Amino acid sequence: MTDGFDAYLAFFGEEPGYLNFASYGPPSTAVAQRAADLMAIAVGGAVGASDVVHAEDARARAAFARLSGFGVDSVALVPHTSLGLFQVAFGVGGTVLVSRGEFPANLYPWLRSREAGLTDARLFGAVGERVTPDAVAAALDDARAAGVQVTALAVSAVDFRTGFRADLPALRAAIGPDRLLIVDGIQGFGVVDLPWTVADALVVGGQKWLRAGWGAGALAFSPAGLERIRPILGGWTGVVDPSHYDGEEHPVRADALRFGISNLSPFATGAFATALELVESAGVEAIETAISSRVDALLAALDAAGVDVLSARGPAERAGIVAVGIGSPGHAPADSPGRAHEAHAALAAAGYTATLHGNDRIRLAVHATTSPAVFDAVATILKDHS
Ligand SMILES: Cc1ncc(COP(=O)(O)O)c(C=O)c1O
Repeated sequence: MTDGFDAYLAFFGEEPGYLNFASYGPPSTAVAQRAADLMAIAVGGAVGASDVVHAEDARARAAFARLSGFGVDSVALVPHTSLGLFQVAFGVGGTVLVSRGEFPANLYPWLRSREAGLTDARLFGAVGERVTPDAVAAALDDARAAGVQVTALAVSAVDFRTGFRADLPALRAAIGPDRLLIVDGIQGFGVVDLPWTVADALVVGGQKWLRAGWGAGALAFSPAGLERIRPILGGWTGVVDPSHYDGEEHPVRADALRFGISNLSPFATGAFATALELVESAGVEAIETAISSRVDALLAALDAAGVDVLSARGPAERAGIVAVGIGSPGHAPADSPGRAHEAHAALAAAGYTATLHGNDRIRLAVHATTSPAVFDAVATILKDHS
């Protein structure tokens, strides 16, 4: 590994039992320091303090543009993934295909936009089913048979539940050049080297794999995305001459900043910028390689203990998430805590943080800073409660 990668690792200090990066990723000391420095500038209130702290937006947009491949004018910042997806859902129009298995942040914007009469959501597939090109082709066939014209597909690059990594170029090919591809990249951006620019709209939050803490993320567009997705939820910062208070409606900006509603927290955007620059300094490829080797080690420990692994195993079909089954599916009634609840509590008691999903699954998520030394003990606890 490179010096940059080793230096990157040195910025983190989470407990060795932290295996929950798909929920949130403990931020680096560099992020904490930047947020504190910006707060100190705001506290001082010197002339120009506001300009200084808000200049972090440009740093974050530039770093996101470099890491994603989108041009900086095509990148806007958002306070969380949900708002980015709301922006897209309210602005895209037509009918959008969305899998039922998506995380709710990628469901409610479509449902609410449908309720507002703006974009129709067509849910397809079953919870836990992979969003493959074949599944999308079948959903498109169903829509065609029903006389529905599909304008876009919205999909997670990495599924929050199973860890399945979508084949974005193949999905792009499956929907064809005229439909828009909308990607929720939060479970993979910065830790898997994906061709993000195949998306027409990419939405990412900083709190998980980027380890930026909460409060900032990015929304980026292809030329087609920027042209076809309207800034229905754009606010006063999204227009030309925002500080010219003349009581008139101003034209929207030409670039992605047209999706701005108001100023973002500079503490969050500064933290986001620092986290993105830290990822750049290590290199996404090096981080991806480190995570992949840890996932291999985790899978080996789970297999050796006889734990039921539910996630995809091929390196091209996964990122940092490994889901395991506890008890037989549906083993406990829906309203009963069940074995997985006990396993989750036993993990916590032993110092391991993971996510409990339903009553029969536990989600583990490892990063480049995770030590494989803990995997055997985790596998044993999971086996004892299976
Ligand atoms: C796929 C996916 N999208 C979005 C989110 C979170 O969205 P937000 O940043 O709005 O909290 C999560 C997890 O919390 C997720 O797994």
